[in-house]
Amino acid sequence: MAKNVVILGAQWGDEGKGKLVDLLTDHVKAVVRFQGGHNAGHTVVVNGKKTILHLLPSGILHDGVVNYIASGVVLSPEALITEINGLKEQGIDVAKRLYISDACNLLLPYHGAIDKARELALGDNAIGTTRRGIGPAYVDKAARAGLRAGDLIQIESFIDKFTAIFEYHNFILQNYYGVPALDFKQMLDEVLSSAEVIRPLLIDVPVKLNEHYKNGDNVLFEGAQGTFLDIDHGTYPFVTSSNTVAGAASVGSGFGPLYLDYVLGVTKVYATRVGSGPFPTELKDDVGARLAERGNEFGATTGRPRRCGWLDIALLRRSVLLNSITALGITKLDVLDGMEKIKICVGYKLNEKNITISPSTLRDLKACEPIYEELPGWTESTFGAKSFDELPKAAKDYIKRIEELLQIRVALVATGQERDDIIIIEHPFD
Ligand code: GDP
Ligand code: IMO
Ligand code: MG
Repeated sequence: MAKNVVILGAQWGDEGKGKLVDLLTDHVKAVVRFQGGHNAGHTVVVNGKKTILHLLPSGILHDGVVNYIASGVVLSPEALITEINGLKEQGIDVAKRLYISDACNLLLPYHGAIDKARELALGDNAIGTTRRGIGPAYVDKAARAGLRAGDLIQIESFIDKFTAIFEYHNFILQNYYGVPALDFKQMLDEVLSSAEVIRPLLIDVPVKLNEHYKNGDNVLFEGAQGTFLDIDHGTYPFVTSSNTVAGAASVGSGFGPLYLDYVLGVTKVYATRVGSGPFPTELKDDVGARLAERGNEFGATTGRPRRCGWLDIALLRRSVLLNSITALGITKLDVLDGMEKIKICVGYKLNEKNITISPSTLRDLKACEPIYEELPGWTESTFGAKSFDELPKAAKDYIKRIEELLQIRVALVATGQERDDIIIIEHPFD
């Protein structure tokens, strides 16, 4: 029986992690975000009400569950407060359910300004970031120049550090990118007022997580983005600036790696990607447009249309080994309803050779041609299905084929946006 479960994206993000985290939260004491920032957009739909979470863990809608933002996250005070206030309007008192690591690096408006200026300067070579400032915030962290949430406790020294780094960023903005300077006083005032909200939430997260471990509590670690947006293992440079693979759950939270005992890899039954970068199974035809329309494939953070394509087993095989995936959570089965034929990419042709796992370099991945297997579709609706038995035979066969190709079992199958549009084959916590 698993106690400490990681949920992460096995593709390029937006796999439906938020929905599955919310679903499983009724079995846990705590939910932990361990990387990324408000570039994430995790959608939770309960009784027709949609909530999109960016920084807050997707367990936040449940009463009696503690939510942690751990040190691997880059924390935008502005985004945090907007999100807290948004939930307050829904009657959710976030402050009673949330703790933040004092070791979180702060993401401040100059990071957003640099992200935007850099993307504009890159022109056709832009990464297609969310322009939230994620990359520049991790740059400061790695350069050991960033401000941490814990710095907000001592205001005088915070102001000194802020002044120095603000001046540096303003110099770059004006003199390298040629864009207007930012206003020092306005930004400082905003950060200092947000400090009043953040300070009471600060905590030593690794020690708290260890207490959960000692108590035998179930804990859920919620990944953001997806495996192929990982800064080391993704399609670099078209990636985000954090590690998104399973190991990051330990590094980014301070929870020992041997305490994690189950990794749920989440994948849609097809593939999507937002932003630039290679996507071997991308469909630029009517079929891709149909997936985008039926799947409502627009970014939950930026509203940008997502690129769509067939499921790619060669990439998922890489995901399985990078993350030591225990079982799969597959989502959006209903989106395939009514499709006459469904293709699965089972490998690639690369330099006249057939390969079964995606290559590590961008150059090779770009040169790969997918090898497809075609399966029959189904005309019946799977929308809202709650048991495997009630699925049409072709849908069952499709799921079984994914299991067979990856040699990994499917634990959960999502059949709609709502919390209870789900088939539970194996409950990770039972
Ligand atoms: P995340 O970033 O991984 O949490 O995923 P997003 O929330 O960005 O995108 C997933 C989208 O698919 C959201 O709009 C979800 O409500 C929706 N979704 C999740 N599972 C299903 C499903 O099984 N069927 C359908 N139709 N929509 C789903
Ligand atoms: P969730 O958690 C999908 C993508 C951006 C861009 C690249 C770098 O909802 O799955 P960044 O702003 O991180 O520097 O952008 O990563 N990206 C996502 N794509 N889902 C996400 O999050 C993403 N977060 C970032 O589109 O290609
Ligand atoms: Mg998303």
